[in-house]
Amino acid sequence: MKSNNLPLIEAIQQHQRNRPVSFHVPGHKNGTVFHHTIHKDFQSVLPYDVTELSGLDDLHAPTGAILEAQQAAARFYQAKETFFLVGGSTVGNLAMVYGMFRRGDQVFVQRNSHKSIFHALQIAGLTAILLTPDFDDESGLAVGISKQTLQKALNMYPRTKGLLITYPNYFGVSIDVQPLIALAKQQNLHVLVDEAHGAHFCLGQSFPPSTLQLGADVVVQSAHKMLPALTMSSFLHISHKLNDHFRHNIKEALSMFQSSSPSYLLMASLDGARAYAESLSKRELNLILAGVQAVKEELSTIKQFRILNWDDRYLSDPLKVTIRTTTSLTGFELQEIFSKNNIYPELADDKHVLFIFGLGENRLDKEAVELIRQSLHGYEVRNEELGMNAPKVEMDVKQLEVSANECRQLPKRRIPLEEACGFVAAEAIIPYPPGVPIILPGERIDRNTLAQIMKLIEAGATFQVERQLEDVLVIDSEDENG
Ligand SMILES: Cc1ncc(COP(=O)(O)O)c(C=O)c1O
Repeated sequence: MKSNNLPLIEAIQQHQRNRPVSFHVPGHKNGTVFHHTIHKDFQSVLPYDVTELSGLDDLHAPTGAILEAQQAAARFYQAKETFFLVGGSTVGNLAMVYGMFRRGDQVFVQRNSHKSIFHALQIAGLTAILLTPDFDDESGLAVGISKQTLQKALNMYPRTKGLLITYPNYFGVSIDVQPLIALAKQQNLHVLVDEAHGAHFCLGQSFPPSTLQLGADVVVQSAHKMLPALTMSSFLHISHKLNDHFRHNIKEALSMFQSSSPSYLLMASLDGARAYAESLSKRELNLILAGVQAVKEELSTIKQFRILNWDDRYLSDPLKVTIRTTTSLTGFELQEIFSKNNIYPELADDKHVLFIFGLGENRLDKEAVELIRQSLHGYEVRNEELGMNAPKVEMDVKQLEVSANECRQLPKRRIPLEEACGFVAAEAIIPYPPGVPIILPGERIDRNTLAQIMKLIEAGATFQVERQLEDVLVIDSEDENG
């Protein structure tokens, strides 16, 4: 046990020991007033849901327990400074992009970024140059931007100010991004990383490195995804090289985008999640990973799917296990079969199901595996076409036809999706999860993208729209010839 240092949690516990009388918000009055059906269930956590009382500090101007908790996190992550986020990596992405650039700046953006990155570009009024990531041939999954793509983009757009990347992908996999970051820094680009899935990478051992150690300037991580933290609690780290001007702008952006009443429950969970990760010994980590391995071995006895093995071209997170259907079932249908047997994977796509393991005991009962085996028994295993799965991409470096902000001003109309090839989209099309837009507002819809959407609809993907995805909003003045 390396760390028992829990500044914020201890401050809240101390406050409760004093048997405080609440004449303040929140209205549940330290958990004494609550709906009877859930009162008992919530009772033990409600006392942590406090507010900016004396001794409990203030996230927007921290000088006490919150500052100490953030400093403990910064030490653990080897950051110059760490900010607690109560609105997920979403708010971190908004604040880092808004804080690091000026309206009108041009930035390189990984095409398969999370929607929050594109929203940030829109809010900050930036021009996006979209860089297509490389794809793994076998799985078809995006694995990061190559140095070659960045070099090409730099030749085409030499006045660009920054590079926004996602590392790793949702499946915990990436190419080595060190050469990419090194090139970007050589060219004086600000490197901003959406590391939502990598809050545990600082544990070293068999985990990939954090980009904070690879030269990135600002890194955002969803603690709630891979660490034991409450949903939405996240970190924004700034590197030792970042100067005070940018630090100030990011801090200002956080005070605009984060609630003025940040949840102490979430902040306490960040304090606890960091301390938990810090306390893990090598032996404990080995046991955790041995648990994952044992589950993988159990699952691999079922022939109706296979576990993807990432070769040494890639860095991969051992807590993420991707299984690929080997039958006529889509990934979505396979996920449904797991769920019906009370096993809930993180997500699916047309071919895969993703399992995410935790930093604790990882196990799957033999009976559960048997139930899955029986549910899949009738499905015939097919011969797979290997190495043919990367999507076709027309342009690896491209600018949007119209910025998302311009889009809002232009006349629009709805047209059937199958007729949309050649039109400029006026809305995003986002399968969720993972929340990565397939179409961005202002992007011309091409044949390959349309085919990709149709394939996802057919396979049963869910999209973040309030209706069936049958039509799409496009810019009105456009026709098929552009
Ligand atoms: C790559 C990536 N970035 C950002 C986010 C947003 O994170 P949060 O849910 O913490 O706001 C997600 C969420 O899934 C994500 O996958």
